[in-house]
Amino acid sequence: MKIKVALVTGAAMGYKKGGPSIGGSIAIQLAKDGFKVVVVDVLKMREKTVEIIKKNGGEAISVRANVTKKKDILTALNIAKEKFGGLTCLVNCVARYSAGMANNVVKTSEDEWNKTLDVNLGGYYRCAKYAIPLILKSGGGTTINISSPKGIRVIRNFAVYAVSKAAIEALTKTLAIDFAPKIRTNCVSPDFVRIENSERGRSKEELENWYKEIARDYPMGRVCETQEVANVVSFLASDKASYINGETIYVDSGKTHSDRHNF
Ligand SMILES: NC(=O)c1ccc[n+]([C@@H]2O[C@H](COP(=O)([O-])OP(=O)(O)OC[C@H]3O[C@@H](n4cnc5c(N)ncnc54)[C@H](O)[C@@H]3O)[C@@H](O)[C@H]2O)c1
Repeated sequence: MKIKVALVTGAAMGYKKGGPSIGGSIAIQLAKDGFKVVVVDVLKMREKTVEIIKKNGGEAISVRANVTKKKDILTALNIAKEKFGGLTCLVNCVARYSAGMANNVVKTSEDEWNKTLDVNLGGYYRCAKYAIPLILKSGGGTTINISSPKGIRVIRNFAVYAVSKAAIEALTKTLAIDFAPKIRTNCVSPDFVRIENSERGRSKEELENWYKEIARDYPMGRVCETQEVANVVSFLASDKASYINGETIYVDSGKTHSDRHNF
């Protein structure tokens, strides 16, 4: 029987309080699905993710790895091989956020542009590049990239993020055809999701009003929870998705494909 080992990048639980993050929820869900999980992040809160997985009876290892560094990625992959016997699922979920990247092209410095692409796109490329040979050796599996509809329906002054996310969909399609049938690659594209990082510095009341305001834009009338993204990753990583390859699934309650005005 094929082993079930997953490596999830950007899988720390929140920044400081262990609050929700998309990668954290994905790692926890994959462990519930029977995967042994290598939890990768630069933040210490990756240990919180491992703690939760273990509390649930699962197996996981925390690895401090920066996805801009080949050496770190190879170390994480080596741990997957040595401790868990290989790799059958890669989830690329990192993203770099900084004040300097929230700009239009003219105001985005070359440094911010390069640093953001190095994580948001380069990190996905690098992890795929070095993980795929191990996945093939382990008998095949799945790769799942986390993107965002902000790459196809852009917002003002968020240029480099949009470019990185649009590129991830192209990366997904090319991996999908280059490595099928041994590896299926798909993309999960959530729109606004409630995470600890974006709650920082806002009071409870401010948060309630903020979420209410955002929810107006979404057909479901509420914001997305990290578990709702993890559920889709869980499906794509499973044999239930055995004929789905090169696809992007939008987890946005129908927002991307709809216009909200009335006639
Ligand atoms: N939260 C949202 O509303 C939303 C919407 C659409 C897409 N996404 C995508 O979901 C994914 C997860 O983001 P999130 O919203 O949970 O935010 P997050 O900030 O909680 O998660 C991103 C994680 O990536 C890690 N990271 C950043 N640079 C890294 C590096 N060089 N090496 C290793 N780890 C690094 C961070 O430490 C962090 O834990 C991202 O790809 C993001 O673009 C988020």
